[in-house]
Amino acid sequence: MTLITTSDMKIKSIELEYVAGVTTKKLPDIKLPEIAFAGRSNVGKSSLINALILRKSFARTSSTPGKTQTMNFYNVNGELYLVDLPGYGYADVGRDFKASWGPMIERYLNGSANLKAIMLLLDVRRTPNADDIQMLRWIENAGYEPVVIVTKTDKLKRSQLPKAYKEIRETLGLSGETKMYPFSAVGRVGRDEIMDRIDEILS
Ligand code: GTP
Ligand code: MG
Repeated sequence: MTLITTSDMKIKSIELEYVAGVTTKKLPDIKLPEIAFAGRSNVGKSSLINALILRKSFARTSSTPGKTQTMNFYNVNGELYLVDLPGYGYADVGRDFKASWGPMIERYLNGSANLKAIMLLLDVRRTPNADDIQMLRWIENAGYEPVVIVTKTDKLKRSQLPKAYKEIRETLGLSGETKMYPFSAVGRVGRDEIMDRIDEILS
């Protein structure tokens, strides 16, 4: 892991420009490229977005799962949107929200003309479950090349990481071409590699 900033993208301005919830009829008509972040509740989607935009807590995070319940569109530099999606798999969110999560996300993934990539986040300590695998299939079926980000790498000992990566890769059935990006919000480790990938996707 390099500590030298490799990403050329400078963060000049950030704005939470659109918020879309389960009752939002019309999705924002977005003209800029979008990168979306999906994954189980509490995996660290909002924390990753904060790291990417170099802010401590611009996107709201919480130790309690189910924090983000809307799709939040962060305009970066007037150049692109980072889209924070509500997490899946959290049993305690209201029944109505749970029932509408799938259609809301599916409508977004299928309906957004400028969506360039969907990043799938996985907790390094957890074996991917059926929801994660379904999310991966959605991403693939929608025609996107999956980008897999393994979060909270600071939570394991360095020596435990290779086994955890292998288990995630095997459980998801990832092909050798799919690159996995290790990430820790603690010290923003792996941030620049992800930013470089975003640069690459947009160019
Ligand atoms: P929902 O909005 O509920 O779907 O969750 P989320 O995926 O947005 O997770 P969030 O970013 O809110 O992070 C959940 C909790 O995990 C918070 O307490 C974060 O501080 C913590 N967290 C996120 N990333 C990391 C990480 O890399 N390392 C450690 N140690 N904690 C992290
Ligand atoms: Mg969140």
